[in-house]
Amino acid sequence: MATQTPLSALAAIVVSSIQTIESAYSNQGMSFPSLDDSSFRPDLGSLQYDPLLVHTTNILVAAAMQIIATVRPPMETIHDMSSTMFTSAALGLAVETDIPTIISTSGTPVGIPLFYYSHFPLKCACVNAQGLHVRDIGSKAGIDESKAARILRYLASRHMFKEITPNVFANNRISAAFVRTEETDGTTPDFDEHAPTALVSWFADECLKSSTHMAEHIRIKPKDVVAPFNMAFKTSSNLWDWFEEPGNERRLHRFSTLYKANSSQWPSSLFTRDIYWRDLTESDVVVDVGGSVGGLTNLLVEAFPKPRYIVQDLQKVIAQAEKFWATERPAAISSGKVTLQAHNFFETQPVKHARVYVIRSILRDWSTAACHEILSHLRAAAGPTTKLVAFEAIMPYACEDTGHFTPTSAIDSPPYPLLPNVSSLGAFLTMADIAMLTMLDGQERTVAEMEIMAQNAGWKLETVEPGLPFAGFVFSPL
Ligand SMILES: C[S@@+](CC[C@H](N)C(=O)[O-])C[C@H]1O[C@@H](n2cnc3c(N)ncnc32)[C@H](O)[C@@H]1O
Repeated sequence: MATQTPLSALAAIVVSSIQTIESAYSNQGMSFPSLDDSSFRPDLGSLQYDPLLVHTTNILVAAAMQIIATVRPPMETIHDMSSTMFTSAALGLAVETDIPTIISTSGTPVGIPLFYYSHFPLKCACVNAQGLHVRDIGSKAGIDESKAARILRYLASRHMFKEITPNVFANNRISAAFVRTEETDGTTPDFDEHAPTALVSWFADECLKSSTHMAEHIRIKPKDVVAPFNMAFKTSSNLWDWFEEPGNERRLHRFSTLYKANSSQWPSSLFTRDIYWRDLTESDVVVDVGGSVGGLTNLLVEAFPKPRYIVQDLQKVIAQAEKFWATERPAAISSGKVTLQAHNFFETQPVKHARVYVIRSILRDWSTAACHEILSHLRAAAGPTTKLVAFEAIMPYACEDTGHFTPTSAIDSPPYPLLPNVSSLGAFLTMADIAMLTMLDGQERTVAEMEIMAQNAGWKLETVEPGLPFAGFVFSPL
């Protein structure tokens, strides 16, 4: 019997995945939205978070990526991959000049004057009622119209925006994500408070500029320069301290917007699984170390009301936390259920023998040497029954994981011939890792890296619960 070639196996994955997705939509009386449908809003109810659909979509995208890598001449792939800085820069410009909103709010029918650049006959332009000519886009965005055309054409060729007739551009379902529509009170959200806009703007600004120093930082290892970011912005402050410096108010605001938007999408069930919080009693204390304003603790108080909770962070963050709790759950503070405490996690941990020290999205921000310090302070404070729970991403290998913790990733075994890290998810996690490296000298870690790093600080890895974007690592004192 002839065995399936990798290419035909990939094609079969694509076909069966599309069938699964389309029938799920059809069962809900919907059809899968067209890419051109800029009015589509992703309000899909149960479909949006349906685990089967999320998984099927990841598999489909991974197969499509692998087909492209397989069939495209290598030099074309090399060209494409080695020039992606232009994508960040072009998208950043389009978003920063608010072109998607300009197109969306000026979508008058296009007429005769459109032919400024076009060699197309009149009738082609007249049918395109949703687009806007680059002359109008350029004048409203404050940029040269021919350059606007080139930027938008670059993006349209990558399926962001659509060139509906020569030099007339419309939003598609991707660029429509940047349209800042009016709120019910008639106001348009502030530029930097619009999450997709803030995300692109951060990548195209701090990240793109810092990335140009990455190779030099790795090769030359300049002394006392923490990260490529420090080279790009000529600062010795780490990213968080730099955000607080005068002149960086807008950047801080923008980053807070994207962080808040990301964290609001994390399913709370990732953090409230019983395995982490089993047998907690009234006499137990849970310390949320580097807990920011206490978003995680707020979930935990609701799900596990018995223990007392302490949220620790730097002084200025704790000041914000006081406002957060005064609004969210004032009784938790007045009753002593929750305490807010200023504490620097590079100093001696003041709360000894807590039942659980929990850290979420902390270790990824720091180098292994810095993590060693953080973990050692917690180990020194731990009692014999203390657990350390860490919510961090698992960096999957791009090959089979032969480690002894299984499953070691949130990704089920994908079908042949997909990469074990389902290249699309692997691409996202490796991007996050390189972003950490570039901005903070931080790192997303494999299970083995987490295990060894914690072991060196006196913690034994007991279990790993897979999850995206966070797995849960449970450690006990060695
Ligand atoms: C990525 S946020 C994670 C916040 C929180 N754990 C969560 O998941 O929502 C990192 C947090 O670490 C805090 N942080 C940074 N340096 C710190 C330090 N030296 N001591 C204590 N907290 C620190 C920051 O203020 C920030 O709140």
